Amino acid sequence: MSVLQLGYIAPDFHQHSSQGKLHFHKYIEGHWAVFFSHPADFTPVCTTELGETARLRPEWEKRNVKVIALSVDSEESHAKWIPDINETQNCDVYFPIVADEDKSVSTLYGMFQPQSNDKFTVRSVFIIDPNKKIRAIITYPASTGRNFHEILRVIDSLQLTDGYKVATPVNWKDGDDVVIAPAIQDPEELKTRFPKGFKVIKPYLRMTPQPNK
Ligand code: BEZ
Repeated sequence: MSVLQLGYIAPDFHQHSSQGKLHFHKYIEGHWAVFFSHPADFTPVCTTELGETARLRPEWEKRNVKVIALSVDSEESHAKWIPDINETQNCDVYFPIVADEDKSVSTLYGMFQPQSNDKFTVRSVFIIDPNKKIRAIITYPASTGRNFHEILRVIDSLQLTDGYKVATPVNWKDGDDVVIAPAIQDPEELKTRFPKGFKVIKPYLRMTPQPNK
């Protein structure tokens, strides 16, 4: 069973993929990464998910993100499925799909969860920063297709909060007001850090316009 947690370095691996042998750390070097598993090739929900991931290429690139998919199907299976995704989802699958036939990577990452399904991977998502640190882990069942806009939203929040002493409130999306980190109490520091001003709703709940907009 995987014990990967937030803050751990995402484990490195070499595995076959739809783009040949993939050296994970080398591939993601200097980038954010979204590493996600899907249950199986030639399945309907997965087809729509990989299509959406490909169509979102400009959004990933804007955020310096590399995307990598994984299932336990073979390289040959991926190669036959990709044209179907491109045709039906009006996209170009430009990213690698790991062919984890021996389940070594999916077991390492806890994407293979045999109590849920003893043949296929679940829908796991790992968001990894340029230091290769795991920053978010999200897991969905096979029957629920993911919302990749939510994954982009989490990346926006992480990239923003890495740069400023703020956190993002419920249902926040890029451009909305954010909350000031409770640790910032010094009035001078508040003025310097938040020149656009802020609203004190409670001493612990202070809203400010998004500082990088
Ligand atoms: C799908 O991608 O459509 C799917 C895969 C496994 C189980 C249920 C649905």
